Amino acid sequence: MDQSVPLVQFVNRPGVIDLAWGHPDPDLLPVEGLRNASARVFERYGADALNYGYAAGPGPLIDWLCGRLSDVDGRAATPDQVVISAGTSQALDQVTTLFTKPGDVVLVESPTYHLAVRILRDHPLELVPIAADEDGVRVDALHG
Ligand SMILES: Cc1ncc(COP(=O)(O)O)c(C=O)c1O
Repeated sequence: MDQSVPLVQFVNRPGVIDLAWGHPDPDLLPVEGLRNASARVFERYGADALNYGYAAGPGPLIDWLCGRLSDVDGRAATPDQVVISAGTSQALDQVTTLFTKPGDVVLVESPTYHLAVRILRDHPLELVPIAADEDGVRVDALHG
């Protein structure tokens, strides 16, 4: 099929390892697992799976995540503490909307994830880069 707009950002070029974007190896993406999970969801929930959902995200997924947070992280979250996002960009935008106002200063690791910079600037916030090392932000660099 001819596409005027590409489906993905990244075009795999044999023999080239493109480190510019950090795209995952397509062979590692769980296509079969998601195909099976989708089939099970449609079996169990039918058209509800495609309808407008609960504002914080699908209830069964939220319940499952609460159980997993309790089992894996050892801290039980309640369903009212969990919100499902469509990805890191949406979550960062929501958190920024909730907790900042235009002109606020945001400390960011240097270097910082480039899409986060774009989202934070859109709000518009003042980004102040802080030196980081393998353990994250260098707290000593915060003084001064
Ligand atoms: C190359 C690239 N594009 C887009 C995104 C945005 O991801 P999301 O869909 O979670 O907002 C990321 C996140 O790491 C990324 O690495």
